[in-house]
Amino acid sequence: MLKIDIITIFPNIFEPILEESILKRAQQKNKVKITIYNLRDYSDDPHRKVDDRPFGGGPGMVIRPEPMFNVLERIKKKSPEAKTILLTPQGAKFEQREAKRLSKEKHLILICGHYEGIDERIREELVDEEISIGDYILTGGELPALIVVDAIIRLMPGVLGHEDSAQCDTFQDNLLEHPQYTRPADYKGMKVPKVLLSGNHKLIKEWRKKQALLRTKKRRPDLIKGEE
Ligand SMILES: C[S@@+](CC[C@H](N)C(=O)[O-])C[C@H]1O[C@@H](n2cnc3c(N)ncnc32)[C@H](O)[C@@H]1O
Repeated sequence: MLKIDIITIFPNIFEPILEESILKRAQQKNKVKITIYNLRDYSDDPHRKVDDRPFGGGPGMVIRPEPMFNVLERIKKKSPEAKTILLTPQGAKFEQREAKRLSKEKHLILICGHYEGIDERIREELVDEEISIGDYILTGGELPALIVVDAIIRLMPGVLGHEDSAQCDTFQDNLLEHPQYTRPADYKGMKVPKVLLSGNHKLIKEWRKKQALLRTKKRRPDLIKGEE
């Protein structure tokens, strides 16, 4: 079972997403155990304050080291081998290969920043890895953490309905997925390619592979180049 601990100042953001669909089922099947830590519970401040103004001036607030050290020391005491990941736009870009790698870990701790970010000493002392979900700035690390969690969990064996579902997805072989169709075979004159109705699995496989290649060459030639 993969353990994921998420440290946040907005714990309520997580429940609606984690309590639906595949993420909910993965937890029910004990494939993953997700624990949300409210950073405010680890503040020594009487008002549970976790942020302060930046030294040197400038706009916004910065998350203070003390509550983050408190919560991480507590988690790491029980699980010293846990990998601590900071969600930050300054991190390495999160791609499918990182999702695959992280899905094989035993215990991940995800730190969600907010405001102007976190005190640099947290990053230096406590963080093993930094992940960005893309070159844009969000308000907080909560949505990035959920994206990382979702991408990881659906790759874990036994989580998806069909074992091979994730194997066919876009990016699995550095290819975009082939086009998909469902019933009806003829919708207002728009017909499904005949080969998909043929029942010939060899031909269907070849057609799908060809379509995936064509689509990738047209839309994401960089993925194919990445293979060379
Ligand atoms: C407003 S951002 C802070 C940005 C910071 N001032 C900077 O320029 O690097 C607040 C928090 O949102 C999260 N965040 C924002 N954009 C992100 C991204 N693209 N990937 C991962 N986390 C992100 C991080 O946890 C960050 O600490």
